[in-house]
Amino acid sequence: MTVHFIGAGPGAADLITLRGRDLLAACPVCLYAGSIVPPALLAHCPEGARLVDTAPMDLDAIEAEYVAAHAAGQNVARLHSGDLSIWSAVAEQIRRLQRHGIPYTLTPGVPAFSAAAATLGRELTVPGVAQSLVLTRVSGRASPMPAGETLEGFAATGATLAIHLAIHALPSIVARLTPFYGADCPVAIVVRASWPDERVLRGVLSDIEAKLAAEPAERTALILVGRSLGAEDFRESALYSLDYQRRFRGA
Ligand SMILES: C[S@@+](CC[C@H](N)C(=O)[O-])C[C@H]1O[C@@H](n2cnc3c(N)ncnc32)[C@H](O)[C@@H]1O
Repeated sequence: MTVHFIGAGPGAADLITLRGRDLLAACPVCLYAGSIVPPALLAHCPEGARLVDTAPMDLDAIEAEYVAAHAAGQNVARLHSGDLSIWSAVAEQIRRLQRHGIPYTLTPGVPAFSAAAATLGRELTVPGVAQSLVLTRVSGRASPMPAGETLEGFAATGATLAIHLAIHALPSIVARLTPFYGADCPVAIVVRASWPDERVLRGVLSDIEAKLAAEPAERTALILVGRSLGAEDFRESALYSLDYQRRFRGA
């Protein structure tokens, strides 16, 4: 028996990996967070599968599901939104599984930041403008930010920022980032990227608050900030230039 953690992707039901889909189809038990995992994904589960919405459950109750499935010899598919490597709460579940000696696997998913970039039709690293992307958040009820991980510290690098779990904090984010990026720095808010009702608000640091006030968004939204979002006059990377000798291109 194995618990298979699966990244469900950002929302669109066809943005799960083939491996994730096949694991769903092979597991007689599926745990999923009903509030953020697209219901259409559950259609991949086998007929008669035990489907458990974890939205109202605490960690002890989720652990009890794993232990019961383990005792019954039933594999479990455990869906989490986006990818598992960021803000998925798999770490604490894995720790509980390890205490019971229950095996587990992780199958990656499409993270929200890459779905948002696709919605915007943009690359988030642009030659000479930004070559780093910071995936971050602001302090919330579930987890405070460690002292060293400040928006100001990340902003000082000029990297593109993808700020998660933070739409409620836009005014303070704008105030903290403006001294570093400038009032005219592009900002995009992507709401429910890849869902049928996805929305995009585009602006700059000085006007994005007004734009959000006019079209409010809650929770499932990503704030992207950085010069890469508006860069047009950047130099091309050397990757495809004729005089750049690559291993797989003749001299
Ligand atoms: C708990 S985190 C989960 C992140 C997820 N594990 C991932 O790989 O993207 C939830 C936050 O991710 C962002 N998010 C998740 N799905 C999104 C989507 N479809 N569109 C925009 N933002 C999304 C929002 O900032 C939301 O508050």
